[in-house]
Amino acid sequence: MSLSDSALPLAIEWRSNQIRLLDQTALPATLHFIDCAAVDDLCRAIMSLAVRGAPALGAAGAYGVALAAVLSDDLDRVRDAARQISATRPTAVNLGWGVRRALDAYQCAGATGALQCAHEIAAQDVAANHEIGRVGRDWLHANFGERPLNMLTHCNTGALATVGYGTALGVIRSRAEAGGLAHVWVDETRPLLQGARLTAWELAQLAIPHAVVVDNAAASLMAMGFVDVVIVGADRVAANGDVANKIGTYALAVLAKYHGIPFLVAAPLSTIDSATATGADIEIEERDQLEVAEVYGNRVIPIESRAFNPAFDLTPAALVTALICPANRES
Ligand code: MRU
Repeated sequence: MSLSDSALPLAIEWRSNQIRLLDQTALPATLHFIDCAAVDDLCRAIMSLAVRGAPALGAAGAYGVALAAVLSDDLDRVRDAARQISATRPTAVNLGWGVRRALDAYQCAGATGALQCAHEIAAQDVAANHEIGRVGRDWLHANFGERPLNMLTHCNTGALATVGYGTALGVIRSRAEAGGLAHVWVDETRPLLQGARLTAWELAQLAIPHAVVVDNAAASLMAMGFVDVVIVGADRVAANGDVANKIGTYALAVLAKYHGIPFLVAAPLSTIDSATATGADIEIEERDQLEVAEVYGNRVIPIESRAFNPAFDLTPAALVTALICPANRES
């Protein structure tokens, strides 16, 4: 089984002075790319989740500043672009981190410096994810030996959510490469189905055995002994270890605790926000209620009803068995 990165197309790439994104809203039906020639194009792509996942947003933010600098070598304009990009989504710390790093590089070395910085962030992300994969594989080996595991994951944390390989899905890939993976349970991840559409698509491309389940199935799967370990990614980890991640993560952590199942969080160091003391200080993005009220354009709740759509939730550090981070500093 080949699990090389060439198995999956790049989620984000700098091409001919534009940012090329794999349009994740069109997957798995269509492999469609969006070429962002202006900062507005990138901001629309981020807000629509054409590009998404904390590490990919870090690279997108940096490339966005580089794009602004290439289009207009004017500090005020590049700063405005940086503010505009940072404001698109509040929860993933990587977005503002990538923007700030590229803006600093622009102020030191102009557009070339900003672009160089974005390329470095992209390359460091891929290296960090391979390292996360190794650290996670060692953790699993130390705790489970070589027996084939049933792993459950939520949302999408793979190559699509990063610049390459993935974080939590990278650990799953790494365990599969080592021969110790039986099967992956993929939470569908309502309302936007990042698990069903994106994680299942990546696992299918990689020929890793998996099944998509409704989010509500996790409790009974655990009760029946069908889950050995839960592994998810993170959008932001506070200084005390609290984790902000896709809505539904907290429920999984509570369930895992009840059933005595390890609950792992995999993230690069760029996702750890030492400036934020606890989870309570993390802003949780609230998205359009239509994402809950409609399914593929069809309203599924009464016209009189409203919906509430927090995109993320907070898992207290006490419920996290281990935070899987790269052993080497990537930034
Ligand atoms: O709203 P999304 O799809 O950007 O949410 C993504 C997640 O919650 C991921 O789990 C997280 O960003 C980690 S990706 C390696």
